[in-house]
Amino acid sequence: MTQGMNQMATAHNRGFLARILMRKSVEQVQRETETSQLKRTLGPWNLVFLGIGCIIGAGIFVRTGSAAALHAGPAVLLSFLVAGVVCALAGLCYAELSSTLPVSGSAYTYSYTTVGEFAAWIMGALLLLEYGLAASVVAVGWAGYVVSLLGDYGIVIPPQLTAPTGLPVMHDGVAVMAANGTPLMGLFNLPAFLICMALAGLLVIGVSESARFNNIIVAIKMTVIIAFIVIVGWFVIEHFQTLKANWDPFIPPATGEKGAFGWGGVFRAASIVFFAYIGFEAVSTAGQEARNPKKDMPFGIIGSLLICTILYILVSIVMTLVVNYKMLDVPDPVAVAVDALGPQWGWFAKTVKVGAIIGLTSVILVLMYGQTRIFYTMARDGLLPRVFATVHPKFRTPWVNTILVGLITAVAAAFFDINTLGDMTSVGTLAAFAIVCLSVIWLRKTHPLIPRGFKVPLYPVLPVLGIVSCIALIFTVENRVLVFFGWYSLGAVVLYFVYGMHNSQLHKGQAPLAGPDLPEFREDAAG
Ligand code: ALA
Repeated sequence: MTQGMNQMATAHNRGFLARILMRKSVEQVQRETETSQLKRTLGPWNLVFLGIGCIIGAGIFVRTGSAAALHAGPAVLLSFLVAGVVCALAGLCYAELSSTLPVSGSAYTYSYTTVGEFAAWIMGALLLLEYGLAASVVAVGWAGYVVSLLGDYGIVIPPQLTAPTGLPVMHDGVAVMAANGTPLMGLFNLPAFLICMALAGLLVIGVSESARFNNIIVAIKMTVIIAFIVIVGWFVIEHFQTLKANWDPFIPPATGEKGAFGWGGVFRAASIVFFAYIGFEAVSTAGQEARNPKKDMPFGIIGSLLICTILYILVSIVMTLVVNYKMLDVPDPVAVAVDALGPQWGWFAKTVKVGAIIGLTSVILVLMYGQTRIFYTMARDGLLPRVFATVHPKFRTPWVNTILVGLITAVAAAFFDINTLGDMTSVGTLAAFAIVCLSVIWLRKTHPLIPRGFKVPLYPVLPVLGIVSCIALIFTVENRVLVFFGWYSLGAVVLYFVYGMHNSQLHKGQAPLAGPDLPEFREDAAG
């Protein structure tokens, strides 16, 4: 037992506060990194592409539509700007933590090392929303594009099997009617369910995403998006005199309902399109594979955020000019915008759909993978039952854990609507980002002297602004989502005191459970 662990062993004699603030030692985590077996092969641009690979997904391809149609109108581009700034503040904090503690395991490990075990547990619960539920959101978005593409070829899935339970089935923004004249109600979203289970299956047998494969997916997504901006943008310039009416008014007047248009709507839409940026922190999980983490991590995080912000703003400009924002509350808004160019562009609308489907598939895979690894780390720390760390003898993957993640995401995607799922993800992630900003402040106070490759500028103003802006965005979402989030957090707190606290390896004074290093997701990272 190391000296650090001996210190831990005595800790359960300490008071309650000391107990829940028990930390993994920074020095130990840094030492573990020095002895890491992973090859340092990722350069700065690999990291930027890694970020973009996780970032561009259902946020821009799907959620932008309802954000514009129901909340911000053409001003959704301002919402992207607001969400981008909030993410940049959190991103700088991620960059400081990842250059100081370049460990795999992400924000969960940062919290365990800085604020302590209770914060790490809460972070684990929030990451289930950020990764697990986000995978469900993207799966619903994926299903929307698949149903639309199949429809182009005359293949129709029964509409009740493409919508969330108990909500009216919509087609092109209009409710579909049953034979008896009443609105047709959804049973569940079958394609979304199937894609989650299929990808969980691939993860169980150990499908990994090489850096080369990631670069190809990123290239496909970027090509589709840039082609959209150029082709639709050119059409908009040609027909500007007519189309400029779609920007009048730029910020539609508030209706009086919470978050419906006006400036309130711009901020409400910011919490929706915030989803489009989730994933940049995946760069921070590659800390042990970066050639020069101190310089390259901040470059990867901020670089991928900047590129995506510019693309998102350009997409929202052309999208809201080419069609009226009211028409965008559909499962495939990007394709609807292309349809406005006329039937001769039908091939491009189909290409956009295929590109979106490929891009979204990879985002679901990355998010589910992230979730399984967080569960795996938590199980080895004793905070989750041991079965989450059970590794398949042949495939070397945490198979029980992966099947469970597949089931959770599939059930959520099948039964709930994308707006509720998306809001839950945004709220959970915003709370997680606020804790990350807090961790930077905490680590500066408790460990002022440890080497930091990158320091957040204008400290402490930027981390404090990060905390405040994340919390402010949380409160723009619908009250029912806030209530649900409140109960979810309370449930997590109770579970910690009932289960996590008593089973924690740290609490018992023991090292994390032995377990094999799992195959990395990016195996040929140099590719
Ligand atoms: N940012 C990712 C997306 O938009 C999660 O799909």
